[in-house]
Amino acid sequence: METPGRLLPPHFYDMEKIQRTRDELEVGDQDVFIVTFPKSGTHWMVEIVSLIYSKGDPTWVKSSPMWKRSACVEINYAVEMVKDKAKPRLFTSHLPIHLFPKAYFTSKAKMIYVARNPRDIITSLYHFQRQLPFCQTLFSFEQIIESFLQGNPVLGSWFDHIKGWLPMRDSEKFLFFTYEELIQDLKASVEKICHFLGKELSEEEISSVLKNASFPVMKKHILENKEPMPLENMEPFKVKIMRKGESVVSGIGGSIGRCSTSPPAS
Ligand code: A3P
Repeated sequence: METPGRLLPPHFYDMEKIQRTRDELEVGDQDVFIVTFPKSGTHWMVEIVSLIYSKGDPTWVKSSPMWKRSACVEINYAVEMVKDKAKPRLFTSHLPIHLFPKAYFTSKAKMIYVARNPRDIITSLYHFQRQLPFCQTLFSFEQIIESFLQGNPVLGSWFDHIKGWLPMRDSEKFLFFTYEELIQDLKASVEKICHFLGKELSEEEISSVLKNASFPVMKKHILENKEPMPLENMEPFKVKIMRKGESVVSGIGGSIGRCSTSPPAS
């Protein structure tokens, strides 16, 4: 049987290019990086930071898909795309710490790391695989768990990803966040992120960030399918990013707290 360790085809991540970006990416002190293990709330955090930068005005998030607002470090053309862009620039990445651009560590650029509990990541991945055109065989829930435990050949495992980045918590340019914190109290989270980024927003502007980063509004705005991300050697494909946006962690939120061990229906 095909090993489920490779949800993404081998050419999805080009290790040679990742190594080159690691050595060559120039990082400005004002740049901001959002780093996550896949399916941990990357789009959500990019939306929040984009809205904070535009002081709650949704024009930018409504007119530009996430992949244009925030260049993905491991997708080479994205880095090319932002080369001459005025700083501060916004980046996203799923890379583990040992593959991350070296210049970040010597710069004052800030990073927000978002972690999510593994059960929800596995469920999210389980549904996400169905949208991947190169996924010939649909993996069962058990196989997805297996794949998760094996880890991605480039990104490594969830455990090593977090373990690698966690020591950065002692640095003032690094903010460790969880998806569950965002779910539990979005307002307090946004205020914390504003403080970290050195942005002062009025109550009205904060309210607009909250409204526009809420699940239903983001679902309406999201442009990833109107303008899918171009990928090297691959036809662009449509993805459903906004699926349920819930957390199994009990005690968090109101309608959330689903605690079933069987795969959720959709
Ligand atoms: P689910 O598949 O569990 O619904 P990423 O952006 O890293 O790929 O993560 C995608 C996950 O974040 C999806 O989880 C998606 O629904 C969730 N998400 C995105 N925006 C959200 C929001 N505004 N509120 C809650 N969850 C959100």
